[in-house]
Amino acid sequence: MKNCADLLTGITTTGTPHLGNYVGAIRPAIEASREENKSSYYFLADYHAIIKCQDPEIIRRSVLELAATWLAMGIDTQRSVFYRQTDIPEIPELTWILNCMTAKGLMNRAHAYKATVADNEEHGRKDPDKDVSMGLFSYPVLMAADILMFNAKKVPVGKDQIQHIEMARDIAGRFNHAYGEHFVLPEAIVDEDTAVLAGLDGRKMSKSYNNTIPLFVPEKKLRKLIMKIKTNSLAPEEPKDPETCTLFATYRAFATPAEVKDLAARYREGIGWGTVKQELFEHLNTLLKEPRQRYNELLEAPGDIDIILKKGAERAREHTVPFLENIRKAIGIQRL
Ligand code: TRP
Repeated sequence: MKNCADLLTGITTTGTPHLGNYVGAIRPAIEASREENKSSYYFLADYHAIIKCQDPEIIRRSVLELAATWLAMGIDTQRSVFYRQTDIPEIPELTWILNCMTAKGLMNRAHAYKATVADNEEHGRKDPDKDVSMGLFSYPVLMAADILMFNAKKVPVGKDQIQHIEMARDIAGRFNHAYGEHFVLPEAIVDEDTAVLAGLDGRKMSKSYNNTIPLFVPEKKLRKLIMKIKTNSLAPEEPKDPETCTLFATYRAFATPAEVKDLAARYREGIGWGTVKQELFEHLNTLLKEPRQRYNELLEAPGDIDIILKKGAERAREHTVPFLENIRKAIGIQRL
């Protein structure tokens, strides 16, 4: 049993990426993609996306925007393997095999499923499983297949995904017990140091709060959104506390330690919110200008993105095709 991927993570393709996604997930992954001597795998989880979204145009558009975002921000597609889940037919095949190794009781305990049932019960709905598709219910099995397929050792994820990695370990352990050691047990990596950005209203930046700043909005719109970030009502000359300020925290996520120190000093001396907002806008706009340009060019050339993703899938399949062949043999599915 060999390790194939040192690092692997998936990105569900729903919605337009925002500054919070960038700082929390995209930036650290792109940095890791450039590391030498480490094999890293990044993929667009479009089979996961159809669980929650049945609008084909949103699905197509999200895959396009996410791929363009990662490429525009500089993912290293030579050192890392960047692909689309639906380009790897071995993944749904492995999912089925793993389904047969997964206790239903294990899935009953999945947070996403339990939250839907709890919501149905709370609202007094007759069927506790209302709006639960088999896709939602067995979502962790598809995710286990994504991971186990590449014998990924480390899986960087947000806290909400830890349970899914544990389930993947469980499923892998059960398979290994029945058929011999085929799968590496993956480990969740949750980086406590990566910044969690606040949104326009000061709560965590999240699509569900409708408080996001999309990464690649046009310049004018970016300025407008930054001007909307909530502040307190201290007068311009009054000293301010940088540590409790959304504007400052946003600046910190994108600035050097020296720049951060400098702004903190100006907060304590007294600085107007209008000035901070203007400077934050200029700072972000300078950083985003070139990638935004590349992003817009990529959106105009979806065929080029397809080619890049297909190449990534080809490289991934050099591993998945023989690996799955082996798994099939292990379970007794082979030429007679
Ligand atoms: N479920 C993950 C999320 O919503 C995305 C994902 C799908 C994933 N497959 C994965 C993450 C495999 C890590 C590994 O964030």
